[in-house]
Amino acid sequence: MNRLVAADIETYAQAHSMPESNLCRALREETQRLMEAPQMIVGPLEGAFLKMMTQLVRATSVLEIGMFTGYSALCFAEALPADGTVLTCEIDEESTTLARQYFVRSPVGKKIEVRMGPALDTMRHLKGPFDLIFIDADKVNYVNYYRRALDLVSPQGVILIDNVLWDGEVLKHPAPDENTATIQELNQVVAADPRVTAVLVTIRDGVLVIRKTG
Ligand SMILES: C[S@@+](CC[C@H](N)C(=O)[O-])C[C@H]1O[C@@H](n2cnc3c(N)ncnc32)[C@H](O)[C@@H]1O
Repeated sequence: MNRLVAADIETYAQAHSMPESNLCRALREETQRLMEAPQMIVGPLEGAFLKMMTQLVRATSVLEIGMFTGYSALCFAEALPADGTVLTCEIDEESTTLARQYFVRSPVGKKIEVRMGPALDTMRHLKGPFDLIFIDADKVNYVNYYRRALDLVSPQGVILIDNVLWDGEVLKHPAPDENTATIQELNQVVAADPRVTAVLVTIRDGVLVIRKTG
């Protein structure tokens, strides 16, 4: 992933934001050592942002689409109150094995439930409501995830969608590939949706922050 924000600015912002926990750091470093695409992790600055959003909306229930090795799920669990829950969706066994090792080691790991299988199937069977929904899995389903998330989010809740700048590729027309095309479509669908208000925040690879209007 190319940096959309200069490295020294990112470092400065990180140094002046809430620090990641020791366990999150250990998980991030182990993911770096073991996994082929460790850059998929949101990282310390976006992790701090997710924690802040969790606390701002006073979330008690979080739904995550795309867990990978569990870094963002752990961030949510750390930010939630003692009775809070994280339901996180994943299809990959290898990353889930690593995630579970860290959830067991965490004092808040019991808040996290992993649902294996395609997230869209899982979402179809959920009732909700969830106070915070974080979408960070296969990009070709982003519009589908957004539509289902709107049914599942609580009235005062928030939907967060990651990688909506897609390395800057969203500026290219025509879109160079299907992932870019879907992310461009998502950004347009959300901007034109009268049921929501949204802001595209330029943290890391871009995060859409969406809440229902009225
Ligand atoms: C960008 S990573 C998630 C990173 C994670 N949120 C973090 O910051 O630590 C995306 C994950 O989505 C998973 N994934 C891809 N397609 C999926 C699907 N259809 N259903 C559930 N998970 C999926 C991938 O296996 C991958 O681990």
